[in-house]
Amino acid sequence: TVELNPTLLPLDWLLGTWECDEPGEGCFPTIKPFRYTETLHFSHVGQPVINFMFNAFHAESKKPLHRECGFIRMQPGTNRVAFIIAQNSGLVEIEEGELAGEQLSLQSQQLARISFAKQPHVKQICRVFQLRPDGKLEQTVSMATDNQPLMQHLHITYRRSS
Ligand code: HEM
Repeated sequence: TVELNPTLLPLDWLLGTWECDEPGEGCFPTIKPFRYTETLHFSHVGQPVINFMFNAFHAESKKPLHRECGFIRMQPGTNRVAFIIAQNSGLVEIEEGELAGEQLSLQSQQLARISFAKQPHVKQICRVFQLRPDGKLEQTVSMATDNQPLMQHLHITYRRSS
């Protein structure tokens, strides 16, 4: 096993595999509320980069739904964090933000999509990862679209599985 690049020590608590604890909750004013399960993998190969994969499934049918993968970097000597993300919906994004203790708050800086992406288009994304004192990880995602202001889309809690 390769040693974690010291630049990433402030994020070492993310590394490993996380399984949702109980189904997450999805909502948005324009859709029917839904429940989903999700597995997160965070790994590294010694570079100053964390590699990640998020795979979500419909809670009842178990059908694969949303998937994202990407990279996390930290600006050395600061608490500044950047996520570089590709989503199976055809969206790619840069999110940046700050690490405060074990809470990571990110805002989209750049969004781009394939020419035939489904509408409505996402205009803005905010997410928060929080490692709770009980060792569980929480993720909350809000988004704005062409026709809705910034509002919560997802909330889920994970427990470490390895
Ligand atoms: C709907 C974006 C993550 C499940 C939507 C819509 C958008 C969107 C733009 C359409 C809203 C509308 O019609 O007004 C995103 C973004 C995500 C994300 C940007 C990540 C940052 C997820 C995840 C799941 C999920 C993790 C889990 C399964 C759904 C479902 C719908 C939906 C079931 C409603 C049906 C549909 O339009 O497919 N999402 N989503 N999304 N999202 Fe997400």
